[in-house]
Amino acid sequence: MLVLGIESSCDETAAALVEFRHGKISVISDVVASQIAIHRKFGGVVPEVAARTHMEHILPVIERALGGRRRPDVIAVTAGPGLITSLLVGAQTAQTLSYLWGKPLVAVNHIEGHVYANWIASSFKLQALRIFPALVLIVSGGHTELVLMKGHGRYRLLGATRDDAAGEAFDKGAKLLSLGYPGGPAIAKTAERGDPSAFPFPRPMLSEPGYEFSFSGLKTALLYAMMNRKKSGAKITGKIISDLSASYQAAIVDVLAAKTLRAADEHRVKAVLCGGGVMANTELRSALQKKLSQKRIPLHIPSIALCTDNAVMIAAAGAFKAARKEYTDWRKIEVRSRWEMAQIVKRET
Ligand code: KG4
Ligand code: ZN
Repeated sequence: MLVLGIESSCDETAAALVEFRHGKISVISDVVASQIAIHRKFGGVVPEVAARTHMEHILPVIERALGGRRRPDVIAVTAGPGLITSLLVGAQTAQTLSYLWGKPLVAVNHIEGHVYANWIASSFKLQALRIFPALVLIVSGGHTELVLMKGHGRYRLLGATRDDAAGEAFDKGAKLLSLGYPGGPAIAKTAERGDPSAFPFPRPMLSEPGYEFSFSGLKTALLYAMMNRKKSGAKITGKIISDLSASYQAAIVDVLAAKTLRAADEHRVKAVLCGGGVMANTELRSALQKKLSQKRIPLHIPSIALCTDNAVMIAAAGAFKAARKEYTDWRKIEVRSRWEMAQIVKRET
């Protein structure tokens, strides 16, 4: 089955073709037109600018992904969560192609897409049958979730953030430190020269039972650390910015890694999967690798390019949905700005 994936939920216009055979995904093409450079001057994503730019990019991106090959058998498109006007561009394009080509449409949850980025690594294909129940850590710009995955399309939300997502914490922290947008890569880079123990930032909710997160207090702690230094007359030098970045990043990474380890342990999962833009963070990747290998729990992390937004993951999630015949009539496709993981659990166990 040849699946075309289309993604336009935020600031990347993406299309990809994957072949789905015997439960395995092979990537044929993967095209991403990033809008980061456009939004950088505004310090964040401007929804109207994003939608207009998706309009410009969507057809050329799809054309490049198709590359003159035969028509796909299925069209998978992100239908939420995300920016409504951005989602509409992808959904309407997919709807039109579904009508024109007479091919079925699959509406994919963007977060479920991040989960299925794990199915693309070649090392993973061999073990794909022996991973359930798996624990999935999703960390993106809008979401921070620990999900128990009992099988394909079978999820149980264990915990999510009560306020800011981990990516949002990076983005807001970077803004306070005047490091630019997007904040995650900016903080990670600045932190390379810093001391992660220089500032004792809190580890929010680390020792509380359950799997909820809270990151908004951390950004307040960062703000106070900066204000206190200014008040005492001390300068905020480049070295201090590096130390603040490293300490701030360490607080986020510690909480994510510790809670993931505890959830994996308590739920006796066979594997841990990860996804979302924040998983591009090398400190987080190595903290998880270290902690989980000590417990001998297999860990799968998609390549960095597949952690940030792309359409391969949407095509992959769509392929598994199509195999279960979970199609959406092109006349009835809807987009949703909020579409929590818990809501796609039709057969929650
Ligand atoms: O998954 P994603 O590309 O888009 C959403 O679905 O939100 O995630 C974007 C988020 C942004 O908050 C960005 O700052 C963060 O991922 N991010 C990172 C890194 N690269 C991207 N956070 C920490 N370290 C990174 N290297
Ligand atoms: Zn995403």
